[in-house]
Amino acid sequence: MVISYKDLGLVNTREMFAKAMKGGYAVPAFNFNNMEQLQAIITACVETKSPVILQVSKGARQYANQTMLRYMAQGAVAMAREMGSKIPIALHLDHGDSYELCVSCIENGFSSVMIDGSHLPYEENVKLTKKVVDFAHQYDVTVEGELGVLAGIEEHVSSEKSHYTKPEEVEDFVTRTGVDSLAISIGTSHGAYKFKLKPGETVPPLRFDILEECEKRLPGFPIVLHGASSVLPEYVEIINKYGGKIENAAGVPEEQLRRAAKSAVCKINIDSDGRLVMTAMIRKYLAEHPSEFDPRKYLGPAREALKNMYADKCKNVLGSAGKGE
Ligand code: G3H
Ligand code: 13P
Ligand code: ZN
Repeated sequence: MVISYKDLGLVNTREMFAKAMKGGYAVPAFNFNNMEQLQAIITACVETKSPVILQVSKGARQYANQTMLRYMAQGAVAMAREMGSKIPIALHLDHGDSYELCVSCIENGFSSVMIDGSHLPYEENVKLTKKVVDFAHQYDVTVEGELGVLAGIEEHVSSEKSHYTKPEEVEDFVTRTGVDSLAISIGTSHGAYKFKLKPGETVPPLRFDILEECEKRLPGFPIVLHGASSVLPEYVEIINKYGGKIENAAGVPEEQLRRAAKSAVCKINIDSDGRLVMTAMIRKYLAEHPSEFDPRKYLGPAREALKNMYADKCKNVLGSAGKGE
């Protein structure tokens, strides 16, 4: 039996992206694995009136249990509505690595899935992505594909070097697969170590020339940016001050994300920034309160800081604040 996302109060990404394209902003796609992260995301997006994509990786699904996740997403919608908010909320599979995983998510209430065939030879990527699209569209579930490889470790692919998206491939890929959005590789990568900088060096600009070339070939088509955490230095500092060891971490400067959000980039993926905020606040609290052992005491401040970080992204980076109502 297919559990329709529509019955859970969720929406797919089609209308969200059409509005983001017109309005020159990007919809946040924040990853979650547990209740505190989800509460922080929903509260931040309700308070800033931002549309939101709740993003679940294969690892998150294994960690939290798929049935639990579905009820959590349903609970997040109910919480938003109880707060008097009408913001659109999508539930999206991040980096789906097989047809079977995408089908399972669609059958379990997801409104959007990513099939990541970016590591496959081009023709195999086309074939797999089209197969997922053909299934998903029967249920009005939207599909994100990917062309080009991001550096960094993902569950199914560990890549030392990134391969930029080849703009000459995007039109053929989108036409033949029927995807609803396309993730491209323009110099970002996953995790907290995006750029290897020598002392005194600054982060190089993203390849906006590749983005512009893709936009030209796909007018009005939604582009997705992965690996878009900024690796906020204030939180890295707190982690290191309280016993952590995060060295030479560097992320995408927020002004570059602002620029991307104004273009055809309609979805910006942020996971690592949330992980860093949560870790920093928990480390700080426990170091300052060594005899405390009630998880609510250290998860509460972490949740509050997370909410503030997400709200800041919506208001000051992605431009999605106020666009959800
Ligand atoms: O792109 C990867 C996301 O940050 C999810 O990470 O696979 O460790 O849950 P994960
Ligand atoms: P970050 O590691 O930069 O947060 O990227 C997250 C992401 O792309 C999830 O798909
Ligand atoms: Zn990603």
